[in-house]
Amino acid sequence: MAGMKIGFYGHAKQYHSLKDEIDRAIHDVLESEKYVLGPQLVEFEKELAAYMGMKETVGLNSGTDALLLAFVALGIGPGDEVITTANTFFATAEAIWLAGATPVFVDSDPRTRNIDVTQIEAAITPKTKAIVPVHLYGLCADMPAVAKIARAHRLWVVEDCAQAIGARGDGFAIGELSDVVCLSFIIQKNLGCFGDGGAVATNHPEVATAIRKLRNHGSLKRSYHSIGYNSRLDDIHAAVLRIKLKHVDEWSRKRRSLAAVYDLRLAGAPMTLPFTPPGYEHVYHLYVVEVEGRDDLQSYLDSRGITALTHYPIAIHQQEGFPWGRPARVNPLPVTEKSAATVLSLPMYPELTREEAEYVAQEVLNWVASRQAVPTAAH
Ligand SMILES: Cc1ncc(COP(=O)(O)O)c(C=O)c1O
Repeated sequence: MAGMKIGFYGHAKQYHSLKDEIDRAIHDVLESEKYVLGPQLVEFEKELAAYMGMKETVGLNSGTDALLLAFVALGIGPGDEVITTANTFFATAEAIWLAGATPVFVDSDPRTRNIDVTQIEAAITPKTKAIVPVHLYGLCADMPAVAKIARAHRLWVVEDCAQAIGARGDGFAIGELSDVVCLSFIIQKNLGCFGDGGAVATNHPEVATAIRKLRNHGSLKRSYHSIGYNSRLDDIHAAVLRIKLKHVDEWSRKRRSLAAVYDLRLAGAPMTLPFTPPGYEHVYHLYVVEVEGRDDLQSYLDSRGITALTHYPIAIHQQEGFPWGRPARVNPLPVTEKSAATVLSLPMYPELTREEAEYVAQEVLNWVASRQAVPTAAH
């Protein structure tokens, strides 16, 4: 297996596995001349809603806009506070700022790495309008706990589900315990188009209509406008996503079986492996370990032909210039900061073979062994 090259993504392999169908679908859109707000988008929105078991979905041009437009549609803006986690991709907080609101960061749970629900209530003030749990790396946050707090304090719940399409909690589905679910279809996500894309899913038809209007320059009817955005999911992307949506569950199963290889081979190694609470279905958008000597392991793997990346090595409140003159409230975040210093994501995508995952795990163990080798005393 020496000389194996293992990249971090399998985009081209996935394309090749569906090439004929995708090529035909793109070709058909090109011939149809219906590229924006066309029939592929309409059909994709229906199929996505059925897949998620939700009333409506609205296709948008990114996951970031899904969050932003959800906040705007829910009336969240300047002076309002939104409680979220700093252990996430930057866009979660960025969208709160873009809506004009104030992100309030609470720490993450050391086992699940999701928002620590025991810290939410203490962060609530009269200005709090919403909670934004992130289903980090493909594992659902503790939504029953979030929903209970939200109900007691009359807050909106917006799920950042950019990394977790297809995931399930213990006895609950995504979207069942919140107001809006935000999805990203950027190529590297579990359901990815060939570029940028996103969507919201909601069981509130009036929120769906408001977002439909916002995405199209504040217009639901030709020539009639109020102020909105230009944030539509193109029909070419929708056509591709319709094809890939049919494979998402099978891909999630593949991801779980690869995670099981890592879990088994790395059990007992001096690192923290991903944790799945009982009854939850993880979809392993990423397989992230926490390990002392992370940078050294990353370079070692690189020297063995394996690309491992970090998600996220600089937490939002640690970014240079934070908070750029915008409002923000930061609670103590020791767990998030420890994660930032130690996280490493191993290759994880449905096109990765079992043999490749075994090779990655073996190289991780080789690195561990090289660090544990006792230097012989000089005489
Ligand atoms: C947790 C999280 N939130 C939001 C986003 C933003 O999505 P997009 O890149 O589609 O704007 C991403 C991914 O990029 C993400 O991982």
